Amino acid sequence: MATNRTLTMIKPGAIRNGHAGAILAQIQAAGFKIIAMKYTKLSAEKAGEFYAVHKERPFYGELVDFMSSGPIVAAVLEKDNAIADFRELIGATNPADAAEGTIRAKFATSIGENAVHGSDSDENAHIESNFHFAATEMFA
Ligand code: CMP
Repeated sequence: MATNRTLTMIKPGAIRNGHAGAILAQIQAAGFKIIAMKYTKLSAEKAGEFYAVHKERPFYGELVDFMSSGPIVAAVLEKDNAIADFRELIGATNPADAAEGTIRAKFATSIGENAVHGSDSDENAHIESNFHFAATEMFA
């Protein structure tokens, strides 16, 4: 399994606020190579499937509603130490705790509408990449 990839989604709020281009530019400037990318919209069913690990959490319904509320950009990113480096680039889940200059500090509006997703492990990066992309859509 690749240890140098992560899956990101630019979430509906950041897309609506016109930040997709700036977020992608910051990702590339940080040295991540985009090896797959699509502009798409999750149905409530697919959003629920993606976040199934959070099914028992009180915010699950809100998360599914938000993630299916408009288009997203999904992308697979490649870089040495991708998981940790990307989580550092995006900042803490709650933008109130995100370090200055991070993507969430700059573009997120709340913990629920936190601009971007980043995989939390190599195993989940693999699962999440395959959720959004066929092997023929990834170009290493
Ligand atoms: P993400 O990294 O995409 O993974 C799970 C998401 O659940 C997380 O970002 C947040 O957007 C959302 N989330 C986590 N905690 C809360 C919370 N307390 N209230 C609302 N949404 C949350």
